[in-house]
Amino acid sequence: MKIDGKPYRTIWPVDGAVEIIDQTRLPHVFATVRLTTMEEAATAIADMWVRGAPLIGATAAYGMALAMAAGASDAALDAAHDRLYATRPTAVNLRWALADMVETLRPLPPPERAARAWSRAAEIADADVATNHAIGVHGLALFRALWEGKGRPERLDILTHCNAGWLATVDWGTALAPIYMAHDAGIPVHVWVDETRPRNQGASLTAWELGRHGVPHTVIADNAGGHLMQHGLVDACIVGTDRTTATGDVCNKIGTYLKALAAFDTGVPFYVALPSPTIDWTIADGLAEIPIEQRSAAEQSHVSGLTADGRVETVRLVPEGSACANYAFDVTPARLVTALVTERGACDASRAGLLALFPERSPA
Ligand code: MRU
Repeated sequence: MKIDGKPYRTIWPVDGAVEIIDQTRLPHVFATVRLTTMEEAATAIADMWVRGAPLIGATAAYGMALAMAAGASDAALDAAHDRLYATRPTAVNLRWALADMVETLRPLPPPERAARAWSRAAEIADADVATNHAIGVHGLALFRALWEGKGRPERLDILTHCNAGWLATVDWGTALAPIYMAHDAGIPVHVWVDETRPRNQGASLTAWELGRHGVPHTVIADNAGGHLMQHGLVDACIVGTDRTTATGDVCNKIGTYLKALAAFDTGVPFYVALPSPTIDWTIADGLAEIPIEQRSAAEQSHVSGLTADGRVETVRLVPEGSACANYAFDVTPARLVTALVTERGACDASRAGLLALFPERSPA
């Protein structure tokens, strides 16, 4: 996507290093950071300079390349895998990308590993862009049908949660790809942006992205979506996912489940944009089997923002001494999901639905 007319991805290799956009500084400061070691890549993921399931996977792949450039023994390969794998527990794209890198590199003699690691990381990044573009095309078809089915209203209201835009991926985004394409195709989309406490990825990142692309949007408190749906002010919801089970249970940013419940109760379609590396084919029960990250209490007790004189400051919201809990993700059961939108098309949120699109995953 473009920033002030200049095309950007969220991660790109430069002279044996990797550059990223530091997402902790958006929307007030646009800054890039150069990662020169595997350890820096691990910090970038753990401290959420980069975040979003697909981008976590791509950053881990480049982290493996940085590790191989510094030393490509079997021990170094395993150590880099284990260090990067420990950064964040929920998004399965991390496990997927690291397994792919190890599988690609292990059979090679060590002197050949660094070059192949860089090229494989680039392939993973390029594949993410193509996947998200395809999700955009399939999601656009759903939005167009919705808009035409409603008699082409002056506004098509879409609610989204967290940030599943281009900042969460290498480019395009998952849930926002169909929104960008619908906007560009002349469908009058307006986006309700959940602020997404505690880290405010909606208010900070989704609003920034949509604004840069000229997509009309309104930031709402996380608690507002149910009310809007009850009053007919939401035509559809679309969110991303960090891990979706083989049976269609969707793990995504905390609060997604409550939006899905409200959508189900009010008859609003609830779509999940799902790149195939985010499917965990090894598990069937999202509630029981997906590890839910718990992050620092400080993300809950404090908030950052821009002061009137242009400084970014962090202030305390919660009284000293009050405990805070910070569950980062929740699981929406498949029965609340209208459709999964993958790069191969949309399907029911069920094992049968997913296997119809990914028959190569059928048990032999
Ligand atoms: O904690 P984050 O910001 O990494 O969480 C991101 C999300 O929950 C996104 O919705 C999800 O990764 C899908 S991104 C395409």
